[in-house]
Amino acid sequence: MIRRLAVIVCLLCSAAAVVVAADGDVTFTRDGGGTDPAPAVFPHWSHRIRFRCYACHDQVFPMARNATRVTMDDIAAGKACGTCHNGRRAWAVTFETCNRCHPAR
Ligand code: HEC
Ligand code: HEC
Ligand code: HEC
Repeated sequence: MIRRLAVIVCLLCSAAAVVVAADGDVTFTRDGGGTDPAPAVFPHWSHRIRFRCYACHDQVFPMARNATRVTMDDIAAGKACGTCHNGRRAWAVTFETCNRCHPAR
């Protein structure tokens, strides 16, 4: 019940367009520790309700935190997040969408 409330509270935050990492989100760490833009945050839960696990595991991502090295070149080449974030299955990478994946913290 407490968990469920937390989820509802989080939905309210995102409705208010405050993008922050929530419990269960995967915050990537970047090789070399760069912070411009801030390391990407993957909202796992909102993808799990849209897709079966096998849409991503294990062909696109292993079932582990920070096991994948992702670069924007990979994404542009249609790998990792770019499997879907290509303007067809989901919105594409543009200068308007950087901060959806790289929320300022
Ligand atoms: C669909 C999600 C997504 C979008 C949109 C996105 N990124 Fe990324 N980006 C990632 C992920 C995942 C990583 C790997 C983790 C990290 O280094 O933050 C990454 C890594 C990076 C890196 C470090 C690795 C590299 O390739 O140099 C930079 C810099 C970067 N992104 C810049 C941007 C900019 C600028 C934009 C907008 C034009 C953007 N990103 C849009 C998901 C995204
Ligand atoms: C849209 C893609 C996608 C879908 C669908 C998805 N995952 Fe994931 N999952 C990821 C990504 C990305 C990571 C992080 C990988 C990394 O950091 O290297 C991850 C990490 C994980 C992890 C390890 C991290 C953690 O939070 O414990 C588990 C366990 C996991 N997924 C289970 C599942 C299960 C179970 C389902 C189905 C109910 C599922 N995933 C559906 C993309 C997805
Ligand atoms: C299996 C396909 C798939 C993959 C792989 C995938 N996404 Fe998504 N993602 C989606 C879809 C579909 C949406 C919803 C798009 C829409 O609303 O138009 C979405 C939405 C999002 C959102 C918006 C928040 C939300 O809850 O709607 C973010 C942020 C995001 N994705 C980041 C990522 C990042 C970062 C990665 C890679 C680590 C990734 N996605 C990989 C399909 C995918």
